[in-house]
Amino acid sequence: MHLSLGQKRTVLITGGAGFIGSHVVRKMVLAYPSYQIVNLDKLTYAGNLENLKDIEKYPNYKFIKGDIVDGDFINNLFSKWNFDGVIHLAAESHVDRSIEAPLEFVKTNVLGTVNLLNASKSIWKENYQGKRFYHISTDEVYGSLGETGLFSEITSYRPNSPYSASKASSDHFVRSYGETYGLPYVISNCSNNYGPYQFPEKLIPLFINNIIQHKPLPVYGDGKYTRDWLFVEDHAEAIDLIYHKGKNKESYNIGGFNEWQNIDMVKLLCSLMDKRLFRDKGESEKLITFVKDRPGHDLRYAIDATKINKELGWEPSVIFREGLERTIDWYLANVTWLDHVNSGEYQNYYNTRYKQ
Ligand code: NAD
Ligand code: DAU
Repeated sequence: MHLSLGQKRTVLITGGAGFIGSHVVRKMVLAYPSYQIVNLDKLTYAGNLENLKDIEKYPNYKFIKGDIVDGDFINNLFSKWNFDGVIHLAAESHVDRSIEAPLEFVKTNVLGTVNLLNASKSIWKENYQGKRFYHISTDEVYGSLGETGLFSEITSYRPNSPYSASKASSDHFVRSYGETYGLPYVISNCSNNYGPYQFPEKLIPLFINNIIQHKPLPVYGDGKYTRDWLFVEDHAEAIDLIYHKGKNKESYNIGGFNEWQNIDMVKLLCSLMDKRLFRDKGESEKLITFVKDRPGHDLRYAIDATKINKELGWEPSVIFREGLERTIDWYLANVTWLDHVNSGEYQNYYNTRYKQ
């Protein structure tokens, strides 16, 4: 199914105040003036409306604060707005937090997704023409690779953390609604994103933040774990393409063809930061501290993104070193954003902007 462009359409984006969601919202609001984009977000610790200041007054953008776990609220929202499409990003997304509090991940990632599926099914009433439920997922559902091999769309699911188990479960629910009720859906599973607006609990922004403040850089285990890094705007571009042109009931892997062992990536980051901060060569590297490993730590992720390339013509456009430099520059140019996150002040933005 291709969704024709230029039509009027009301699209719900969940989790749009988060890292990837804010890039997707911005892209859709700017690229599709004929769409009404509704951003539904609970504004957990990870949701930050300062991420969307530049587009918050656009006429085709509307923010709604709400919880996808609240089924009645979701049903009422869908009845009111009669969405044509859902792009579902809202989630608890940090592996370390899932190890501390798995149930929160079950609630948001599993129950929240099922609430959205039920509400979509209920308003679309089997009249699925032009309708689409797009579920954004992760490569972590496939578990861990050894030294070689790549995750493809037919790799078996073998999640190892409560986070990835909850995402795997939500993927299965989405697929099951397609099989059982005919709900038109598409799923994508992406590798590690990096870029502006990422909450500084994830590796790259945490380490940028710590380097700025001369704080230790906690590398888990021996640092030999491998991740496949993708610039967030490339992910947003893939999401736009898949939403409009992806095939119904298919899943697409998205990745950067860009594998790095953590320790090598961190050393590159340190050297780039030294240059940007006019510090002595090697100064930031001295902050590296090897700490206790993450339990169940997946050794290696790497994506085979051939399918999306062949079917939809997508490929990553940002070279890693340039993307990392852009990311560093963004954090250094946006110290107020970082200060507000560090102090917790960003959580007041909703009250000042939306409740005046
Ligand atoms: P994030 O943690 O930065 O943002 C998540 C957003 O969801 C926040 O704005 C938060 O307030 C909102 N949210 C959380 N619980 C909610 C609830 N109950 N109701 C409504 N809103 C709620 O996450 P992210 O890194 O931007 O990831 C977005 C999506 O992409 C997630 O589904 C994640 O699994 C997936 N993903 C992330 C990556 C990555 O590298 N970050 C890679 C692949 C896939
Ligand atoms: O692969 C996609 C996934 O990437 C997404 O689904 C997740 O939402 C996202 O958080 C990310 O998961 P990771 O666990 O790979 O990302 P994180 O930034 O937490 O960690 C990246 C690597 O760095 C991982 O091997 C653990 C390591 N690490 C992380 C932190 C926070 C450290 O060594 N030290 C740290 O302090």
